[in-house]
Amino acid sequence: MFEPPHPKPLAPVAALVRAVWRGERDLLGLLPADAYRVPIGHLGYTRRSILIVNDPGLVRSVLLDEEGIFPKNDLMVDALQPLVGDSLFISGGATWRRQRAMVDPGFTHMRLGSAFPAMSAAVSAYVDLLGQYAADDADFSLDLAMSHLTADIICRTVFSTPLTSQLAREVFDAFTVFERSAAQVDFKRLIFDPAFRPVPQRAEVLSACSQIRRQLAALLAPHLDEPGRFDDIASAMVSARDAESGRPFSHDELVDQLGVFFLAGHETTASALTWAVFILSRLPDVVGRLRAEVDAVTGGRSVAFGDLRELKFTRSIFRETLRLYPPITFIPRVAMRNTRLGPMRVRRGAMVMISPWTIQRHADLWQAPHAFDPDRFLGARESESVSGAYLPFGLGPRVCVGAAFAQSEATLILAELFRRFDFRIVRPDDVRPVARLTTRPATQIRVRVARHDG
Ligand code: HEM
Repeated sequence: MFEPPHPKPLAPVAALVRAVWRGERDLLGLLPADAYRVPIGHLGYTRRSILIVNDPGLVRSVLLDEEGIFPKNDLMVDALQPLVGDSLFISGGATWRRQRAMVDPGFTHMRLGSAFPAMSAAVSAYVDLLGQYAADDADFSLDLAMSHLTADIICRTVFSTPLTSQLAREVFDAFTVFERSAAQVDFKRLIFDPAFRPVPQRAEVLSACSQIRRQLAALLAPHLDEPGRFDDIASAMVSARDAESGRPFSHDELVDQLGVFFLAGHETTASALTWAVFILSRLPDVVGRLRAEVDAVTGGRSVAFGDLRELKFTRSIFRETLRLYPPITFIPRVAMRNTRLGPMRVRRGAMVMISPWTIQRHADLWQAPHAFDPDRFLGARESESVSGAYLPFGLGPRVCVGAAFAQSEATLILAELFRRFDFRIVRPDDVRPVARLTTRPATQIRVRVARHDG
């Protein structure tokens, strides 16, 4: 069975040496072997304790957080606040409850159906572009290509604007600057700083954030000027009302939420698609099964919204990719008071890391945990998986709002791209994953495409 690349775990002392002296910046490569085995344990030697929680029961205690002890981690909140204010992704308590209730209706199955033509149009435009690449036999960056495609889908479904528009392109470029800086985990700070020390933001990051917010406000403006003109996610946010007070989102809150959709909604899916294309390029038999399924379901026409639920194998390829390469490598929380988690005392200020990466590769929870096996999500085998051992979208009240959106676009993309093209990775043996803002390849993956004449 194919085992796509993953780092060999280190001894904890070796991890410390790499982080401090060699300046290694990839948290994934620093994970000790125990992180894949223990139900709960300390991660390395740090002033502020960092815990990794793998046991599904303990993970539920943290993420369901019925006593309000484990809010979103302060370091993450500090890093994102200049960009997305006190928005859904980082807010807590009553503010979060109000926002979530107002945002959820924008992502129902029915709304997804309305967004589907815009997704489809983005994928068609992308198929044309790939056709040109195939004709030129040119190689290109797979990661960047997936990023453009998913950003285009976000722009079209949220703002009814393609990424080719000047303004959308500026937002994408400014986000790339922000993400590059946010991805720079400062390991010395992680090791030596006490809990709750605010993270100072660099001037250029703050200026990129204000620029992005101005651009998002410009993309939003036509939706406020002409309510009813658009049938998209921005319009759903404009017309959302708080059930108790009847009040809409303020202008700032609208910009906050739209920023989150852009931030949380394109690099995540792009990262998973990059890994899916990489894996499929190595597995012609799996691609053959995908093509047979797409042909059987669509009879040769374009994929329609109603087909998605029938594309079970294609979907399971994406699910298995999310297991091996969860885009959100770590879901970080912080303990707001002294407490216990199973056998362990947890002090106020401890960072509590739920890691879909280690849980979804845990030897006690998965058979052949590092092997790519999409059939584990099909038929009777699906029910064999341990409850709580699969959480690429998180779980509990803070579970991803865009999970169904992401699975729909990814199924559509894999079906439409692989039925038409063969992908060949230029140097497959050089590919290795790292944890940045998402689980990414350490260096860009170059790829060539050729038309598939099936
Ligand atoms: C494969 C793609 C995606 C993955 C793996 C993913 C993963 C996640 C995870 C793990 C969380 C929970 C974080 C936590 O508990 O701290 C989350 C939350 C969230 N995601 Fe996604 N996401 C994806 C796509 C999207 C898309 C397409 C959107 C919107 C268009 C989106 C919007 C959000 C929002 C708004 C939240 C915050 C929810 C809350 O706190 O109430 N995500 N996502």
